Amino acid sequence: MTPDQQKRAAAARSLDYMEDGMVVGLGTGSTAAHLVDLLGEKVRAGFRVTCLATSEATARQARDNGIRIVGLDAVTRIDLTIDGADELDGSLRLIKGGGGALLREKIVASQSERMIVIADASKKVTRLGAFPLPVEVIGFAAPALLRRLAALGCTPRIREDGNGAPFHTDEGNLIIDCPFGAIDDPEALAAELDRITGIVEHGLFIGLASLALLGGPNGVETVAL
Ligand code: A5P
Repeated sequence: MTPDQQKRAAAARSLDYMEDGMVVGLGTGSTAAHLVDLLGEKVRAGFRVTCLATSEATARQARDNGIRIVGLDAVTRIDLTIDGADELDGSLRLIKGGGGALLREKIVASQSERMIVIADASKKVTRLGAFPLPVEVIGFAAPALLRRLAALGCTPRIREDGNGAPFHTDEGNLIIDCPFGAIDDPEALAAELDRITGIVEHGLFIGLASLALLGGPNGVETVAL
């Protein structure tokens, strides 16, 4: 199986956790895109689900697939969120935001009863941090935050779009990518980042996911807390 087929297998397995009538958060990225595709097939066959999208891209793809997308004003609970990850460790601590959607992803996940991660098995690491940690910041604060984040032990860079201009998130903010290499204490780093004014949100997702479905060469492995 190619990595893409492994992602699709994980996405397909996650549908087993979705029940008729649920309110579901849909993640962003290439693995979540498989989920939206596969869910669209089910919806067209009569499965009923109400969804929140974690990005404009996912919202568009879901609507194109006939999936009902609503805002947070229309629901009082989110039963389940299914999303990809850039890295996850054995305690289901995640790095997210490679696709630039970490803010809405974290808002939706934190409002959800349950979060399931879908990924190919290469995303599982013993220590988080090889993937540069995305940090979403207010543009005005970015020059000062570059210095502040460098002092935490990385060489931060403002993310660019494909044309050399700064990348802007769905909320109009910037992303600073922070290659820490290895993060010794993810909780401590998350707490530190939470304290810095001008940072809107960061890509450490801790205490949110309770299950991961990882597509690998021999099928889908389950990591549960
Ligand atoms: C989007 O901002 C990210 O958090 C994605 O969920 C993450 O980058 C995983 O993406 P892939 O499924 O494309 O690897």
